[in-house]
Amino acid sequence: MDGNGRWAKQRGLARKDGHMAGERALSDVVEGAIEVGVKWLTAYAFSTENWSRPTDEVEFLMQFNEDVIARRSGELHEQGVRLIFAGRRGFPVPESVVAAMDKAMELTVDNDRLTLTVAFNYGGRAEIVDAVRALVRTGVGADDIDEAAIREHLYVRDMPDVDLMIRSSNEFRISNFLLWQIAYGELCFTETLWPDFGRENLFAAIREYQGRQRRFGGR
Ligand code: FPP
Repeated sequence: MDGNGRWAKQRGLARKDGHMAGERALSDVVEGAIEVGVKWLTAYAFSTENWSRPTDEVEFLMQFNEDVIARRSGELHEQGVRLIFAGRRGFPVPESVVAAMDKAMELTVDNDRLTLTVAFNYGGRAEIVDAVRALVRTGVGADDIDEAAIREHLYVRDMPDVDLMIRSSNEFRISNFLLWQIAYGELCFTETLWPDFGRENLFAAIREYQGRQRRFGGR
């Protein structure tokens, strides 16, 4: 959800105003995803690298995410959304944020219209490391480790491979996002800053995706 800060700066607003506008954008995208029958949507909210931002912004983002969960989980539940959080959950993530995540996941666990995964304190490399650690702890032999075994130990066991990744705000990188799941994902880049992104932008990206030819390495 890149571009919240730049969106705010362009308007002479504080970065936090950009994040608040970003929350509204995410809500519109969730509604759009439900409208067209998307079953899985993953939003990158805080990366393992975001801890290097200034302390006051990190503190704001922790509190902001906790507030967003509190503000939005009831509405997401009513929409039939299953909310999941993917990422490292222990220190330095504040306990109150972890508790809010657990509460929201518990509330929405039986919903099946859309699974919204929020990647929080998430890194694709960290996810693979954590999966391998969990796998090794099962006592599995080296020759029994295959792709299926690693996949089963990723943060969200039933998450399918990425079909479409959309990156907002004129950045052309993967930035450690779902590295395992994105192997054959189609990439879509847009200059739209995240707060200006809405369901119509999602639909446009899906139309672009529908025009792609996916060969998965075949012919
Ligand atoms: C990046 O903007 C965006 C974020 C750090 C995520 C903000 C979080 C949300 C909008 C909502 C999270 C949702 C839930 C359900 C918890 P940036 O600061 O990188 O902007 P820039 O690229 O302009 O610097």
